Amino acid sequence: MADTHISSLEVEARAFAPPSGFSAHAATMLDVHEAARRDPLEFWAEQARRLTWEQPFVEVLDDSRPPFYRWFADGRLNASVNCVDRHASERGGRVAYYFEGEPGDREQITYRDLKERVCRLANALAGLGVAPGDRVAIYMGMVPELPVAMLACARLGAIHTVVFGGFAPESLADRIKDCGCSVLITQDEAWRAGKRIPLKQNADRALASCPGVHSSVVVRRTGADVDWVEGRDHDYAQITENASTEFAPHVVGAEDPLFILYTSGTTGRPKGIVHSTGGYLTGAAATHSWVFDLRHDDIYWCAADCGWITGHTYIVYGPLANGATSVLYEGAPNHPSPSRWWEIVERYQVSILYTAPTAIRTFMKWGDEHLAAHDLSSLRLLGTVGEAINPEAWMWYRERVGGGRCPIVDTWWQTETGSIMISPLPGLTVTKPGSAGEPLPGINAAIVDEQGEPTGQGRGGYLVLTEPWPSMMRTLWGDDERYVETYWSRFGGLYLAGDGARQDEDGHYWLLGRIDDVVNVSGHRLSTIEVESALVSHPAVAEAAGVGRADERTGQAIAAFVTLIGDADGNEGLILDLRDHVAATIGAIAKPASVVLTDDLPKTRSGKIMRRLLRDVSEERQLGDITTLANSEVVEEIAAQARQRRSAGEDEE
Ligand code: PRX
Repeated sequence: MADTHISSLEVEARAFAPPSGFSAHAATMLDVHEAARRDPLEFWAEQARRLTWEQPFVEVLDDSRPPFYRWFADGRLNASVNCVDRHASERGGRVAYYFEGEPGDREQITYRDLKERVCRLANALAGLGVAPGDRVAIYMGMVPELPVAMLACARLGAIHTVVFGGFAPESLADRIKDCGCSVLITQDEAWRAGKRIPLKQNADRALASCPGVHSSVVVRRTGADVDWVEGRDHDYAQITENASTEFAPHVVGAEDPLFILYTSGTTGRPKGIVHSTGGYLTGAAATHSWVFDLRHDDIYWCAADCGWITGHTYIVYGPLANGATSVLYEGAPNHPSPSRWWEIVERYQVSILYTAPTAIRTFMKWGDEHLAAHDLSSLRLLGTVGEAINPEAWMWYRERVGGGRCPIVDTWWQTETGSIMISPLPGLTVTKPGSAGEPLPGINAAIVDEQGEPTGQGRGGYLVLTEPWPSMMRTLWGDDERYVETYWSRFGGLYLAGDGARQDEDGHYWLLGRIDDVVNVSGHRLSTIEVESALVSHPAVAEAAGVGRADERTGQAIAAFVTLIGDADGNEGLILDLRDHVAATIGAIAKPASVVLTDDLPKTRSGKIMRRLLRDVSEERQLGDITTLANSEVVEEIAAQARQRRSAGEDEE
C-alpha cells in the first residue's frame, strides 16, 4: 500500500519559554486544563456560566443525533445583553471601542454608548418589520455601525449575515438570496487606502436581483451623493435619531442561530456556516480570555475585518462578552503611510495585537524603518491567524514588533469551528516559530492517515477534531446533507478540518496547509508550507508560494512563486541561489523545479495565498475563476513571467 502520510522535512530548533509576567495566567490555565480533563461536560457547563442566562440550561450536550450536536439547548439568553447590557450597567463608562477612521477621525465608544446605539437601531429595524428569525444582510466597511448592526440584529433575535465590503455585487446577491434576507444594512461609501469604495452602488446592483429585500438602511460615511430608491432606502441617522435608547431584548433558545457567515469552499457555491447563540458565545468568550490572557487594563486590537469569522469572534462577540476595550481601525495598513499601524499601537498603547501572516509578511516587505520611529513598548502579547506562519515571519514579528519580549500565539481555527481550537497559551506553552501549540482545554484533536488511524508522532496526516465542542457550526444554511458530506463523512464521526498537520515530540501541532495543496514528488507527499517557509528563510524573500505541477519524471514537481523584500535584486543568480537554499534547508526532494519572481502573490480577499490559481498557471491551464481574488491583476503578470521562463528553458535539471 502506498505511504499516504505527508512527509515533513522542516526542522525548527528555536523555542521560547513563556515570560515570567504570565505566571498568574499559567496557574489559572493549569486549573482550567485539569477541569476539562476531569469532566468535559461539567467543564463546558462552567464556561457557559460566564454568560448571563435568562433561563439557565440543564442539559449540557445533546448528542442523540450526530453530527447535529446541540449545546445548552434548554437554556435561553440574548447575545446583545451579554455583550453590552451587563457591562453598561456595571461600568458603563468603560470604553468598548476606540474607533480610528482611515482619514484620521476618532471616536470613543463606551459600553453605555454602545447599548444606546444598539437599542436605537434595534427599534428602527423593528419599525421596518424585522422579526425574530429573519435574516439581515450587513455589507459595510469597518465603521462602528457595523458591530452595532450585528448586535442590533442579535437584540431582536434576527440572524445577521455579514458580507465583506470587498465583495462584488454578484457575491453579495448570491449570499442574500441563499439565506433569504429581507433587509440590508450598508453605507454610502467606504474608505480604503484613500479611495472611496461605492458600497451603496454595489448594493443597488445586488438588490436588482434580490426582490426579497424590502428595505435597506444606509449609513452616511463619506457623505457622497448616492442613488436613492424611495420607500426602500432609509437613512441610518434619520431612522435612529429619534428612536428610543431602550429595546427589550428578545430572548432566544441557546440553539437558535446567531448568524450565518459564508465561506467560499475551494470549489462550488459558498457555504453558509450557521452558528448558534449559546454555544458560540461560550466558545468566543472563553477562548478570548484564555488565549489572550485578557486583563482589565488591556487595550486589545484585532486588526481583522468583521466580514470574516475572526472579526465576528475576536472583534465583536468575544471581546464584548468579556467587557474588553478594543481598537477598531477602518482602513488600509499603508494609508497615509506604511507606519499607520504602528502609530495606532503607540497612540492607544495597544497591549495585545492579533493579525494575519499575510499582514506580517507585507510589513516585512515594506521594511523595518516604518516601525523604528514608533514606541511599541505597550505591546505584551502578539497573535496570528488565517494561514500557517513561516518561521522567519514569526521571528520578525517577535523581534521587530514584540521587541523580543512578547509571546506569540499562533491560533488555528476556522469559520466552521467558531473559535480558536489550537493555540499556545502565553503563560504555559513553550512557543516554537511556526507551531500552533496544542488543542485548548476541552478541545480534542488528532492526526490520522487515509484509513482514519492515528499517524503517530512526527508523521503528517489529516487534522480531525474527535469530540463536539460548543462553538462548532451547526449546519450549512439550508443544506444539512452537504454539512454531513463535507465535514463528517470521510472518517465517520470525526470532524474533518481539511488541513494537514503533524505533531512533534512535545505534542505541539504544526499545520501543513490545505490537504488539496499537498504536492507529490517521486512518491513523497510534501506540504507546500514547508517549501514556502524554506524560501522565506532566505534573506531576500518576503513571501513565497509553492505548488505542484505535473512532471513526467517525478509525478509532480514544485513550482515556486516568490516576492522579494524591499529592493532585493531579482537576478538569475538569485533564482539559482533560492533553489539551492531550499535543497540545503529541507532536502533535495523539495528543490523547486522553477522559481518565478513576482511583485505580489494572488490572494483571496481575506489574504490567503490562492495556490489553486498558481497551479493553473504552472500547468498552462485555462485560468479558473479569478473574480474572488483581492488582486486579480497579478495573475496575468505571473502567467506571462512563467511562460517567459518556460520558453527560456529554465526547468528540470
Ligand atoms: O487552512 C487553515 C487556515 O485557514 C483555514 C480556515 O480559514 P477561515 O475559515 O477563513 O478562517 C480563518 C480565521 C480563523 C484553516 O482551515 N488557518 C487558519 N489559522 C491557521 C491556519 N493555518 C495554519 N495556521 C493557523 N494558525
